[in-house]
Amino acid sequence: MPLEKVGVAGCGLMGSGIAQVAAQSGCEVIVREVSAPLVEKGLQSIEKNLARQVEKGTLQAADRHKIRARLKGTTNLEDFKDRDIVIEAIIEQLPAKKEFYSALDKICPKHTIFASNTSSIPITEMATSTTRPDRFIGMHFFNPVPVMKLVEIIRTIATDPKVFEEAVALGTRFGKTVVRTTDRSGFIVNRLLVPYLLDAVRALEEGVASVEDIDNSMKLGCGHPMGPLTLLDFVGLDTTYYISQIMFDEFKEKRFASPPLLKRMVLAGWNGRKAGRGFYDYSDPAKPKALDLR
Ligand code: CAA
Repeated sequence: MPLEKVGVAGCGLMGSGIAQVAAQSGCEVIVREVSAPLVEKGLQSIEKNLARQVEKGTLQAADRHKIRARLKGTTNLEDFKDRDIVIEAIIEQLPAKKEFYSALDKICPKHTIFASNTSSIPITEMATSTTRPDRFIGMHFFNPVPVMKLVEIIRTIATDPKVFEEAVALGTRFGKTVVRTTDRSGFIVNRLLVPYLLDAVRALEEGVASVEDIDNSMKLGCGHPMGPLTLLDFVGLDTTYYISQIMFDEFKEKRFASPPLLKRMVLAGWNGRKAGRGFYDYSDPAKPKALDLR
């Protein structure tokens, strides 16, 4: 049976994007946040994205209303009691995730698959707070979810192969290219991306070049859509810092160690675009201004 009833936990940047692509693929979606204003904010960002697609002519107005009708917001975890799969995109902290899964496990029927959008926390560790490690997988999307074409599907040593294939089919139905991977912190993308981003900060710290010159080098020299420091601002410095800590803890390798400048910026609250300041100042969001951090 295909997975039709989808729950999405968390309606921030990632959760709202996941809920949107799930509803666009025809699934019936309930998205949950911890407070009514957060539910409202998440649903509004989805509505804005859909309206933009209609304006561009990539979505029919009638389809927009059908997609919206398939999306329901809630603050009540109990509303996940009839879901075929719950995709979790809550805060990237293990204690919060474990508490969430332990509560969810008591609400959902036996057949419900649990999928975490974590970028680095071991899937196996979250699965231990449930009675269903065989029905637990990772489904890692990329920001902005409606645009980025990839999803990593992660199995643990305990995942039932049939559950894994069901998740692969769902990722494909969402319009994504699926890559299959195992439960190692960072999976494929962040294993390669995080050391690269951290090296860009080290290069800045060592005075190799300015913020703009480091970004332009990778944009124009390697054809990347964003330079590494712009991408750090986009992903969030705090998020990248937490990911690097988890990956360093897993592998004990220097390439995953956070450079002091990154830590200082996170301590100062300069977390990137969402904070209005990171490697760039976003006072005028249309014209980010590179900062001199050397
Ligand atoms: N939500 C939905 N759609 C969005 C969007 C958003 N937040 N931001 C941009 N778009 C859409 C635009 O509407 C536009 O759509 P059309 O092609 O239909 O017109 C398209 O994306 C391109 O946008 P723009 O023309 O405004 O800007 P751009 O060409 O500079 O592209 C970008 C923006 C897609 C973000 C591009 O810069 C890019 O690909 N950047 C790299 C992003 C990246 O690497 N993401 C992965 C981060 S790592 C991660 O997420 C995982 C982790 O664990 C940390």
